[in-house]
Amino acid sequence: MAIIEVKGLSYSYPESAVPTLINVDLKVEQCEFVLMSGPSGCGKTTFCRCLNGLIPASYGGTFDGTVTVDGLSTTEHPVYEISQRVGLVFQNPENELFCTSVEREVAFGLENLALPRQEIRSRVEEALSLVGISQLKEKSPEELSGGEQQKVAIAALLAMKPKVLVLDEPTANLDPMSANSILKILVRLHRESGVTIVLVEHRLEMSAPYADRCVIFEEGRVVLNGSPQEVLYSEKANSLGIGIPQVVQVAKSLSARCGFEGRPLSSKALAEMILGAKG
Ligand SMILES: Nc1ncnc2c1ncn2[C@@H]1O[C@H](COP(=O)(O)OP(=O)(O)OP(=O)(O)O)[C@@H](O)[C@H]1O
Ligand SMILES: [Mg+2]
Repeated sequence: MAIIEVKGLSYSYPESAVPTLINVDLKVEQCEFVLMSGPSGCGKTTFCRCLNGLIPASYGGTFDGTVTVDGLSTTEHPVYEISQRVGLVFQNPENELFCTSVEREVAFGLENLALPRQEIRSRVEEALSLVGISQLKEKSPEELSGGEQQKVAIAALLAMKPKVLVLDEPTANLDPMSANSILKILVRLHRESGVTIVLVEHRLEMSAPYADRCVIFEEGRVVLNGSPQEVLYSEKANSLGIGIPQVVQVAKSLSARCGFEGRPLSSKALAEMILGAKG
């Protein structure tokens, strides 16, 4: 069974004249790494809010259709129950961090679950080490860089052991090196602990090579849904003005000029295809 199943989802914010999401159908299988993108304002953040029940619970508005996560309907179960299964990471981690130390921050959600002390301690240690920030545990989140704060936000969610991580442009405010280090953490978590990942990103060049599937929104609808190759090499993706990786443009131009047939997503893959064809 799919871990996330969205059927006929349409949503309008209160007092909004136009719907933000229109008849969205989407399934995400357990352990999938799904990359989501689309032009600004097309409804990606709104969709993320639907995945853990924040919409409609905290936002109100008009909600039609169903969102089911790990078998639970988000409109029939409270947000605290859904959010133990779906952890949400936003663009600005400083808005989410409020404890006096990193260790307390990561323990916070677990204390609310009233878990035994020893269990809390071991989950906090494990989450800090998975994200590679054990050395920061006594620091105040305020003193950390944006990239470090984002790692704390991810560790705090991992400690809850969710089945799905939904990350809404987690690297938008970070320099390319910090963004890459967050992406590498996600890739490792996905491979090693099998967590399902839904990543909203504009930087497709960096993330597409790791995704199992790519979903593109336009004006509240899912307009493309397939393998990263199918989606990013399509004419439709080209016309949407999303950040098509440069390697895709290069491969298309090689295809037009000399019949190159590969569909690489990274420059390394392109180089290997060209060298392979020569050899
Ligand atoms: N809390 C809100 N109340 C009313 N309207 C909202 C709210 N949040 C978003 N919207 C509207 O919903 C539409 C989609 O916004 P959303 O933030 O989901 O887009 P997005 O795809 O995440 O864009 P971006 O790439 O810029 O982050 C926009 O028209 C926006 O103005
Ligand atoms: Mg957004």
